[in-house]
Amino acid sequence: DRAVGVGLLGFGTVGGGVVEIIERHQQELQHKVGCPVEVKKVLVRDKKKDRSIVIDEHLLTEQADEVISSPDVDIVMEVMGGIEETKKLLIKALNNKKHIVTANKDLMALHGAELLQLASDKGCDLFYEASVAGGIPILKGLSDGLSADRITKMMGIVNGTTNYILTKMSHEGRSYDEVLQQAQELGFAESDPTADVEGLDAARKMAILATLGFSSKVELDDVSVKGISNVSDADLYYSHQLGYTMKLIGLAKRDEGRIEISVQPTLLPHQHPLSSVHNEYNAVYVYGEAVGETMFYGPGAGALPTATAAMSDLVQVIRNMRLGVNGKSVQGPLTKSVLKDDQE
Ligand code: NAP
Ligand code: HSE
Repeated sequence: DRAVGVGLLGFGTVGGGVVEIIERHQQELQHKVGCPVEVKKVLVRDKKKDRSIVIDEHLLTEQADEVISSPDVDIVMEVMGGIEETKKLLIKALNNKKHIVTANKDLMALHGAELLQLASDKGCDLFYEASVAGGIPILKGLSDGLSADRITKMMGIVNGTTNYILTKMSHEGRSYDEVLQQAQELGFAESDPTADVEGLDAARKMAILATLGFSSKVELDDVSVKGISNVSDADLYYSHQLGYTMKLIGLAKRDEGRIEISVQPTLLPHQHPLSSVHNEYNAVYVYGEAVGETMFYGPGAGALPTATAAMSDLVQVIRNMRLGVNGKSVQGPLTKSVLKDDQE
């Protein structure tokens, strides 16, 4: 069978992980999708940069068009970040009938509905599992596993960087600045970590989870946000002495049609299961009327866990290509906002 061509927008932490998995798991992938998977072109800012993942230098380009308009590319994997310019690239790619896999929560939280609608109109897939909670398959959990239930509440830790910082400050007494720098070096933090530490990254993820879980278009402005940049060593020390662990908790709940979403540092009793979620790990409780309480847990950031989530989307796109059903299984409601309707 003809190889499926993959074009990457970005070859940093997540892009490097994607290339590594495509190489290391090629046999496994071929077995699962029935054809080879080949990287055809990779967009970077600087072709000359030293890179830890080895790649044929002829694959690298600084011209986005060589990826999104290439006849060799069937699926564009967007792992570069950014919002407005990146949106334009994805619109162009969809107009070129390319399927999209993205890890970009900033983009999906703001423009997801519009992009999903365009993908559907073009008969293309657009999947974004890697945008929330790294390697945890929570979007598929909500849109597939729990699709028949009525989700009433989601609560958890959805940012790896801040959980890493709080864990290392509390358990090892290390300074905020030192641990933030380490989270950046490990590839957990965003290129500008302000979004992590001020809670915006978690807010974007909670908006995506609420949109999917509650089948309502939730806007970022609907999320009340407070980050951890003002949390001091003393706050952590005294809360620990009093039997509490501080975590940056995202909470989304709906009650009689009203939806409330917040992200804020929260004191949890030491024995609370979320208190034992350490380092870059994430965990989300999902409450459904029928299923009761479920918990999703796993690595929430980093190269290979996040790339695993993006690759699961890639496998889904290829399976859909083989069945001829692309654009028919979007992960996301394209309905009017229940939240807005209820408040009007
Ligand atoms: P990163 O390490 O900073 O890599 C970004 C890559 O994109 C680099 O290869 C960079 O090129 C390229 N790039 C960025 N802007 C570009 C532009 N304007 N033109 C051309 N190339 C450009 O970022 P990352 O950590 O992999 O994150 C990528 C995306 O995944 C973001 O949306 C992020 O939010 C999301 N994500 C990340 C994680 C994680 O754990 N890191 C987890 C989940 C989701 P150069 O290499 O030449 O600089
Ligand atoms: N910066 C993000 C985090 C990456 O730390 O959770 C994963 O989305």
